[in-house]
Amino acid sequence: MTKNFTIKTTKAGFSKSALLIGFVHKNVKPQGEIAKLFAQTGLNWKKLCDAGDFSGKTGQVLDILTPPDLAVSRFLIVGLGNLHKSDASEKTKKPAKLSDWADLGGKLLTLIKNTSTTEIAIIADELAEDPMASLVAGLHLRNYDFDKYKSQKDDDEEEEAKPASKNLAITLHAKNKTALDKQIATRMATVEGTILARDLVNEPPNVLGPVEFASYASDLSSIGIDVEILTPAKMKKLGMGALLAVSQGSVREPRMAIMRWNGGKKNQGPIAFVGKGVSFDSGGISLKPGAGMQEMKGDMGGAAAVIGLMKTLALRKAKVNVIGVIGLVENMPDGNAYRPGDIVTAMSGTTIEIINTDAEGRLVLADTLWYTQDRFKPELMINLATLTGAVMVALGQEYAGMFTNDDELAKNLHKAGEVSGEKLWHMPLAPAYDKLIKSRFADIKNTGGRFAGAITAAQFLQRFVNDVPWAHLDIAGTGFSTPSNDINTSWASGFGVAVLDEFIKNNYED
Ligand code: BES
Ligand code: MN
Ligand code: ZN
Repeated sequence: MTKNFTIKTTKAGFSKSALLIGFVHKNVKPQGEIAKLFAQTGLNWKKLCDAGDFSGKTGQVLDILTPPDLAVSRFLIVGLGNLHKSDASEKTKKPAKLSDWADLGGKLLTLIKNTSTTEIAIIADELAEDPMASLVAGLHLRNYDFDKYKSQKDDDEEEEAKPASKNLAITLHAKNKTALDKQIATRMATVEGTILARDLVNEPPNVLGPVEFASYASDLSSIGIDVEILTPAKMKKLGMGALLAVSQGSVREPRMAIMRWNGGKKNQGPIAFVGKGVSFDSGGISLKPGAGMQEMKGDMGGAAAVIGLMKTLALRKAKVNVIGVIGLVENMPDGNAYRPGDIVTAMSGTTIEIINTDAEGRLVLADTLWYTQDRFKPELMINLATLTGAVMVALGQEYAGMFTNDDELAKNLHKAGEVSGEKLWHMPLAPAYDKLIKSRFADIKNTGGRFAGAITAAQFLQRFVNDVPWAHLDIAGTGFSTPSNDINTSWASGFGVAVLDEFIKNNYED
């Protein structure tokens, strides 16, 4: 997965050449192992902090070069601010935001890469296992780079100058190695799912069409997921006229992939995740402007998150029954392409007047959502889609839009968003918006005009969920082309895997 990078936990000591990293809270002196090691330096903590303007706020670093006869040569003390060790004794404080620890891990990786050291020892005896595991996740997520198509590695990016050629060996010195290893394995499942989603979103659209995407789903059978792929003939039989209309202008065949993870009790109704997988969205006959069109290779970010989530759940053997269904098409203009004015019939029987062939995601989801609830009768259905530019106008790139017909679900998803750092904002659904998608000729039309674009798209989807408790996450602003942050410097973010994994952990396991 990541190159030149290993992390091990250990109880053993560390070599003299290792770069030592320890943590302190804001305005608190070193504790535990770190206190012992610091004592060896013979330095006065208070004076050192004053001289180094160090207060221990989050991410602040005190770089101590120790006398040559000591057990270690360099000691970095990293501030934790008021982040705490999700301890039961700290009831007065809010629950630890795991994303803060992942962010710190990301910062730490840059710090490490900017030194010439290749051996790093992190002293973690004073910290609880779950924040430490999140910190490890942050190290890995920050280390992710999509460079498989570069024949020469960049050496002009500041951060990459040194590490490209060096192997980093990081050891974590924990109080309870077994407990930490267990937590890390769980977190790493989420990291691997997120990285799979990033890889898929980053892949170019000539390499990754619907058929190729479906084969990534099939690959998951090696980790215990049942996979079924629907071909166009089958979709035609099922009456998926909306999805097929989008696909008909492309020489690439559509697919639908159905993934099943049965880790829960036999009688537990499945939770379904549905993804928009438009491998490239040119807009079709309602062609998009040329500038920036290359970004539409990421229009399968919803499907990528679903496949990534399935991988995560299987890797950590989640005790839950989950279905993932993704609708995979390419939206192209062509002599055979669907047109504005066409009326198509979805699997549900609803007729749809096409106003704009660039509003294709909702058509793909119409059939994918209907098929999923019809066949699997899920307890709950959540879809992810890079659905509208309008959601970016509303929320920018910080929050994904969340639309739901169930207030309890909204609360739980919002909470999972805050803990995981993949944040969701509750947006409205209301029957009053339905008049905006009323069609003169058919049951509904596929666009709602200039106002409330993200909401009318969601209202459209709601017509195909048949009253199943459901949420739609519009990730157009958060799935790709997001500004670099502590845990991601790549174009694709993998948004959706972490928040939904957290949501499942909190609400459906134990
Ligand atoms: N895939 C786009 C939405 C999108 C835009 C995602 C920018 C990420 C970044 C979607 O298929 C689309 O084209 N939506 C149109 C809908 C409109 C024609 C009603 C849009 O948002 O402009
Ligand atoms: Mn479009
Ligand atoms: Zn699209």
